[in-house]
Amino acid sequence: MAHEPILQNWSSKHAELFGNHIVHLKHRLHESPLFSNDALARLIETVPREHYHVNTMNQEVHDPKSWRDGEIGDASGHDVIEAVRTGNIWVLIQRVGEIDPAYQQVIDQIFGEFESHVPDLETYKQKMSILISSPNVQVYYHCDIPGQSLWQIRGRKKVYVYPNTAPFLHQEAMERIILNETDEQETPYRQWFDDYADIIDLEPGEMLHWPINGPHRVVNHDCLNVSFTTEHWTDALRNRYVNHYANGLLRRTLGMKNPGIATSGPALWSKLALTAAHRYSGLRRKNQMTYKVDFRVDPTAPFGMRDIEAYELAK
Ligand SMILES: [Fe+2]
Repeated sequence: MAHEPILQNWSSKHAELFGNHIVHLKHRLHESPLFSNDALARLIETVPREHYHVNTMNQEVHDPKSWRDGEIGDASGHDVIEAVRTGNIWVLIQRVGEIDPAYQQVIDQIFGEFESHVPDLETYKQKMSILISSPNVQVYYHCDIPGQSLWQIRGRKKVYVYPNTAPFLHQEAMERIILNETDEQETPYRQWFDDYADIIDLEPGEMLHWPINGPHRVVNHDCLNVSFTTEHWTDALRNRYVNHYANGLLRRTLGMKNPGIATSGPALWSKLALTAAHRYSGLRRKNQMTYKVDFRVDPTAPFGMRDIEAYELAK
């Protein structure tokens, strides 16, 4: 199985599209035993606390303030999956390649295939996170910093992907996210943005890869969803990150209004140096965040969760 291709319908046009436009492909990982209920239940029962989030949110409207963090407690893996199936929760298991080498093999194969298909593509710091989520839940409008792909295993979800330029994503907002000045990767959203989105109903056995930092939001159909995301870096993505980082600093320290984007040469080198100096000087805000945890997964309770006394979790 490890040698059969994961990507099912790659064609030469995808090499030209990859990274610049949405790539929507078929894969075969929805048939892999690594994503069966038994395998997921085992993962849930062994996942270290720092590798997972359980969340709930308002299903009806865009309301980032309704987003809450919870804990699995001592529920069995199958009970957690049952709570997700009948409830209103979202389980995210992060960096699964570090938990079980079988998932790392899948990550290695995925990026091996991308690199064999796309000339000069060299990826690093690849990660996989598994999402198990209730019918109709949503992930609000946001953008991610590394390269992102979304892979559907079970259920169906509607994915909205927006252009990665203003007014959908302002450079200043990106700089705030990269400098860790906002707790969330939330960027301002207005409903009319949807008129400019690519809207894809993602089915089991399908994946999407979208341009770097492309804002997106996800709404589950009325069914349990199992998906995973992959993220990766390349030199080009790192250079873009460095530009945002350095431009954020230049705006703050020198009051520059519109610092440009440098993709090569001395202008890029000076931004690399500025970013490295700031990161290693300890001036950058720490990546560690604090979460208020105030519910526990419970398949017997309404919405698959019950309130507990709130406590803080740093991770
Ligand atoms: Fe995302």
